[in-house]
Amino acid sequence: WPDGTHLSGSDLVIGGVPATRLAAQFGTPCQVLDEATVRNRAKAFVAALPEAEVVFAGKSLPCPEVYRWMASVGLSLDVSSAGELALARAAGFPAGRIVMHGNVKTGEDLKAALEYGVSRIVVDSFDEIAQLGALARHGQEVMIRVTPGVDAHTHAAVSTGVEDQKFGFSLASGAALEAVLRVVEQPSLRLVGLHCHIGSQVRHVASYEETVRRMVGLIASCGVRVEQLDLGGGFCAPYLPGESSFDLFGFAQRVRGTLSYECALHRVPVPRILIEPGRSIVANAGVTLYRVCAVKRGARTFVAVDGGMSDNPRPALYSAKYAVRLVGRGGKLRPVTVVGRHCEAGDVLAENVLLPADVHAGDVLAVPVTGAYHHALASNYNQVGRPPVVAVRDGLARPIVRRETEEDLLRRYV
Ligand code: LLP
Repeated sequence: WPDGTHLSGSDLVIGGVPATRLAAQFGTPCQVLDEATVRNRAKAFVAALPEAEVVFAGKSLPCPEVYRWMASVGLSLDVSSAGELALARAAGFPAGRIVMHGNVKTGEDLKAALEYGVSRIVVDSFDEIAQLGALARHGQEVMIRVTPGVDAHTHAAVSTGVEDQKFGFSLASGAALEAVLRVVEQPSLRLVGLHCHIGSQVRHVASYEETVRRMVGLIASCGVRVEQLDLGGGFCAPYLPGESSFDLFGFAQRVRGTLSYECALHRVPVPRILIEPGRSIVANAGVTLYRVCAVKRGARTFVAVDGGMSDNPRPALYSAKYAVRLVGRGGKLRPVTVVGRHCEAGDVLAENVLLPADVHAGDVLAVPVTGAYHHALASNYNQVGRPPVVAVRDGLARPIVRRETEEDLLRRYV
């Protein structure tokens, strides 16, 4: 739950606002986002690694207002498309603190990045080095995405550091070194750093330590000065009670120690570290409110709500697990399966969660840890409008993304 969330009677108070009031005022489904939690998590990264550049992974919660919060607490921003860049521009995010990523950047993406003057572009293929070299004016700063061959022990769909997948230049095969030479050859590009991102929902600090070792080894064999080393994001967030948070302090200490040891060993200057947290900043700040529409009691009890895989495809995509709580009243608990409104048997939000035995249509359910990759992954499946994102702070609530209407849905059809 977001920082400071508490019970008032049986209502849940988030950012000083009762959940039942949020559901009544803004309708359901509704994604509530606690601003203080977002700001505190962002500041915690800066405090743990003051020497580093902390880059918010904008894909985890694409929203101009959230980007403005990040800018105001000193974070940089990573965007992975012209669309995310458009949000950053709308937020007035300083171009000098934007990094552009992505294993595919179209000509439009690259042109938009160059036109806005984003500080660094992370190149991901030889084709892209050639294309960017031709488009860029003199001195565009570039980082090279490297696949370090480190297993982050996470879900295969978000494990990006291992060999034999689509991201980056392989370190083991020598492609990364070849990419360094190709960038250096391009007169319009200036190599400033190496980048890697080993995966998402990574629990073990040791995976990052191993990454640092391999990346410094690569820096030593580059033969050119590498000023920046971007270690990507991926720091885990706890989704269920009892799961632990990422050990940020341990990460900072061990990465710092390994970096200075390895750089001394290889006699290379210590590069500036960049990290790109997304989930670990925003996941915990989000709570989704649903209204129960139907309850079916049989061998299992199905509790069907007014949202589902269109606002949260994560259970279907990654077998992600969520806790669920009924707000506004209590009762004797029994296990139920919470399902969505979409036309697929796999549209299940949470299995075997405890809700009051008499749960019925009209009840409001709250699902915590829905701040990261929820608004971002939401779709219009079954032509259901996407929910709003409502920011709460000090007892005040305001939408920072409005609910998608039928008019919005109809606008694109010819
Ligand atoms: N940097 C790069 C280059 C990335 O590709 C990502 C995430 C991040 C940073 C931020 O990772 P984070 O700190 O948020 O784990 N949709 C999936 C997650 C996909 C992650 C994509 N890349 C999910 O809902 O679990």
